[in-house]
Amino acid sequence: RKRVAILISGRGSNMSALIEAAKAPDYPAEIVGVFSNRAAAKGLETAAAEGIATKSLAQSSYESREAFDDAIGQVLEAWQVDIVCLAGFMRIFTPRFVERWQGRIINIHPSLLPLYRGLDTHARALADKVAEHGCSVHFVTPGLDEGPVILQAKVPVLSDDTPETLAARVLVEEHRLYPEALRKLAAGEVRP
Ligand code: GAR
Repeated sequence: RKRVAILISGRGSNMSALIEAAKAPDYPAEIVGVFSNRAAAKGLETAAAEGIATKSLAQSSYESREAFDDAIGQVLEAWQVDIVCLAGFMRIFTPRFVERWQGRIINIHPSLLPLYRGLDTHARALADKVAEHGCSVHFVTPGLDEGPVILQAKVPVLSDDTPETLAARVLVEEHRLYPEALRKLAAGEVRP
């Protein structure tokens, strides 16, 4: 089984979906650690309660973004990680870090990429009056939310949607999509 680390910054509901999926005996990956750049991230408590190793480090303790990325890399190496899953990790990596993990680092993003890269995806989709919205799991490359898409899921946009109701509908799909995408990568069914 491939050894997977999940990187979070907050709630960690996608993290929980990955942890649950990996409990299946035939799942090709195991979650060996959860890292956060915010010590207060709720998901760290959830992961610890599951008996998973956790670690948090703050960017403010490092003199540069490169130095912080090196420290994260050392955590991943100590856990002997094969695959990195970003799940609500609200920080952009330096190109050197991304290149080091290229093909082995994936992210979930709440839009139908290449539409709505970056933040506030649900509000922007509503402002554009799109008929459908969704989420994407993609390989991480140095450009923000630009890497090749592995899987996408669509949801309808309803006339009375708010960013919150739309986000909730998308999140249900995220929790289904991310475990499926990780399964494909860990099983060698997808390549960047
Ligand atoms: C998820 O909706 C995820 O797609 C999004 O943040 C949320 C994290 O929720 N990620 C991004 O916007 C990345 N730019 P979670 O912590 O409950 O998984």
